[in-house]
Amino acid sequence: MTNSDQPPIHLAVIGGSGLYNFAGLENATRHSVDTPYGPASGDVVIGDFAGRRIAFLARHGESHTLPPHRVNYRANLWALHSLGARRVIGVNAVGGIRGDMGPRVIVVPDQIIDYTHGRSTSFCDVEGAEVKHIDFSEPYTESLRLQLLAAARAANVEVIGGGCYGATQGPRLETRAEIARMKRDGCDLVGMTGMPEAALARELELEYACLALVANFAAGCGDEAEISIEEIFAHLAAATAEVPRILEKMLQ
Ligand code: HPA
Repeated sequence: MTNSDQPPIHLAVIGGSGLYNFAGLENATRHSVDTPYGPASGDVVIGDFAGRRIAFLARHGESHTLPPHRVNYRANLWALHSLGARRVIGVNAVGGIRGDMGPRVIVVPDQIIDYTHGRSTSFCDVEGAEVKHIDFSEPYTESLRLQLLAAARAANVEVIGGGCYGATQGPRLETRAEIARMKRDGCDLVGMTGMPEAALARELELEYACLALVANFAAGCGDEAEISIEEIFAHLAAATAEVPRILEKMLQ
């Protein structure tokens, strides 16, 4: 069956740390997509959820084998686009910098500062490709952000609308001084995978929004001298459990 025989994909979800498959996806089929940019993080799984066709891709691979700086963001977005997705939600684990963005809080940010380096940040970065200067004043698609926020509220999830996502290189966590600088810069959250994903989505003219799951207070922002990786994953698991409920509301 070709893609054109299938109903359109209503929404694509890129799962981050802690979200490696999409529970509740019915009639699921797996799609391994050849992209001009090399392999995606894994198969795209397409199936039905809450009566809609959903595509799911695990950003770090289904067994979490790809660190943030080695994710092939271009291939991932290309794969989703080529399968017909036009609206994408990136689910991202983050650290909270702002006081009200503590563990297990969910945030739908509205701005980004990019501190990453050495990643392939554009589809133009290929010999002979047309150079495209995208407007990125508003890095996320506002209508999709608002739908996500409304859905989270309808699902009775503690959610904060707005905030600046600072994207760091990883895979290590940041120093206190780095987070203090990010705070001065205006960052509210810190994560390792928000960029270049958002910019690449814009280049492909995909609608894109981020659902940021706070796993910990960023370095120097909480009471603890050190950040426990076990705690990060425990908080992340709790926040991740809310994701299907939020998406279900969004699809209604
Ligand atoms: N820093 C960067 N990325 C993260 C963090 C953090 O503290 N927590 C979860 N993802």
